[in-house]
Amino acid sequence: MAILVAGGAGYIGSHVCKMLHSKGYKVIVYDNLSHGYKEFAKWGEFIPGDISDVELLDNIFKHYHIDAVMHFCAYIEVGESVVDPQKYYENNVGNTIKLLKVMRKNNIDKFIFSSTAAVYGMPEKVPIKEDDKKDPINPYGKSKWMVEQMLEDYDKAYGLKSIRFRYFNAAGADEEGEIGEAHKPETHLIPLILDAAIGRRDSIKIFGTNYDTKDGTCIRDFVHVNDLADAHIKGLEYLLDGGKTDYFNLGSGEGYSVYEVIEAVKRVTKKNFKVVETDRRPGDPAYLIADSTKAKEKLGWEVKYSLDEIILTAWNWHRNM
Ligand code: UFG
Repeated sequence: MAILVAGGAGYIGSHVCKMLHSKGYKVIVYDNLSHGYKEFAKWGEFIPGDISDVELLDNIFKHYHIDAVMHFCAYIEVGESVVDPQKYYENNVGNTIKLLKVMRKNNIDKFIFSSTAAVYGMPEKVPIKEDDKKDPINPYGKSKWMVEQMLEDYDKAYGLKSIRFRYFNAAGADEEGEIGEAHKPETHLIPLILDAAIGRRDSIKIFGTNYDTKDGTCIRDFVHVNDLADAHIKGLEYLLDGGKTDYFNLGSGEGYSVYEVIEAVKRVTKKNFKVVETDRRPGDPAYLIADSTKAKEKLGWEVKYSLDEIILTAWNWHRNM
């Protein structure tokens, strides 16, 4: 089986490539390296390229007889998406349409798509179930929701089978410490706290301490990147077995506050660092917690990593990067 992983040199994509490779799949890592790293593209064959390059994709699909495509290449910065929505719609939606078109041309009808908890916007209740209201509040979340809706239509009209995975807060790193989370720029909580623990930053800022939560800080659901990778393998196997188009939340079901995550980093790393309380960051929901019962029931997916294990694996990679 040959799988093309678009965005396979990025954070989540590279962990998926490593797992696919370990299970004996032929992996084509396709990445334009705008946000990914060449050093992360070591499981399978690396082909540099952009998902808008339909000619190159057409040649690859023909040459390698690709069975399924996984798609991880999207811009993910919420704040930037508000300032420059065109960048988000053009890449996350427009270029995804190009990728799907060249897949159809080559009769590739299995597609795994990275979506996000951002499709729910400000949820009315937690834990969030898949069929709860979708009301994304920024162009990033909207771009993901648009593709999700398109994929329903592509199945009805063209028989293209897809799985959409709505990630909650992806975190942690490969246990062998070969790959990890290194966004450019970094905006995510755990790597920023680790930078403070290492001394690469003076402090960690807490964005808002007056939310209606147990300690006033936001509550998030952290899920290990290898648990996400495992879901992708299960989703792929489900489609290869003739499974129907579907969509799943991927989270642990446990919520931790920003304070609790900071305390957990101090405990795991045995480092102390300065914590600064600042204003809220616009657009942050107070709670994001997944109900992932559907992924458990339909795919047999369960998380294996605790918050401390997420932090420990992230720390082991982060301090050596
Ligand atoms: N936070 C801080 N200080 C920081 C960075 C983050 O207090 O320096 C807080 C945020 O305000 C938030 C929590 O830590 O309350 C988590 O923030 P992240 O930026 O790590 O993650 P988000 O929950 O904002 O983002 C995640 C995904 C996005 C997705 C979003 C849905 O990474 O892709 O959930 O709202 F869009």
